[in-house]
Amino acid sequence: MRKKLILGNWKMFKLPATASTDFCSAAEATKKFESKLDMGIAAPFVSLPGISERAGRSHLMLLAQNCHWEKEGAFTGEVSTEMLKALQVSGALVAHSERRQMFGETNVSAGKRVAALLAADLHAVLCVGETLAERESGKLEDTLRAQLLEAFAAGNLQGGASRPRLSIAYEPVWAIGTGKAATPTEAHEAHAFIRGVLREHFGETVAAATRILYGGSVKPGNISDFTRSVEVDGALVGGASLAPADFASLCEKVTESL
Ligand code: PGA
Repeated sequence: MRKKLILGNWKMFKLPATASTDFCSAAEATKKFESKLDMGIAAPFVSLPGISERAGRSHLMLLAQNCHWEKEGAFTGEVSTEMLKALQVSGALVAHSERRQMFGETNVSAGKRVAALLAADLHAVLCVGETLAERESGKLEDTLRAQLLEAFAAGNLQGGASRPRLSIAYEPVWAIGTGKAATPTEAHEAHAFIRGVLREHFGETVAAATRILYGGSVKPGNISDFTRSVEVDGALVGGASLAPADFASLCEKVTESL
């Protein structure tokens, strides 16, 4: 059985002092779920040192929202996996759709970031998902397949090795921040398709062990509709993860439905 994973994505919200306070509150409020769930929050880079210092080692994983694939070098504005590790950060989101749409993230750069994170023994959450135009023109599966396979090829991620720290987040672009979540059936079907691609590429063991999270307008009121599916191994939540009490409520709803 895959343990469900609930991740908050704080995007470009909260000043560092607030981020530290809110992370600690979210950690305290979710401690009681730790035996049943894995949980984490992806915070802006500038908030990572303060959170790490105040929260210390916590059941609530601290993640970044991006990272570069080189250890160091002339890459202005980038942050390496070594730098994240120095702050006890557990991993990073990769290629969130906002990065794909607004900052030129490609499947190739996504794959290199995932490979660097896994090589550093960090968690990598590779985000994929189709636009409304892609879904409506019948290109859902082609889009997801390309996002996964082009990234795995660029990161030289082959079958054979186990990949316990790799997760995939399925986030339909049209569902992010819109209040219009996918239906549980749409999520279930997309996840099953993604698992099939993982199986083809990595083999059954990795496919069976990899967590696939749903994201896009998840709230305490709908999260368990998704996580009840055996194919949905958790959620990546933006807006509804910002308030510590809401984050705790998301986790509570999932534990109630287990
Ligand atoms: P949302 O964002 O929950 O606010 O729709 C999800 C995400 O962008 O990861």
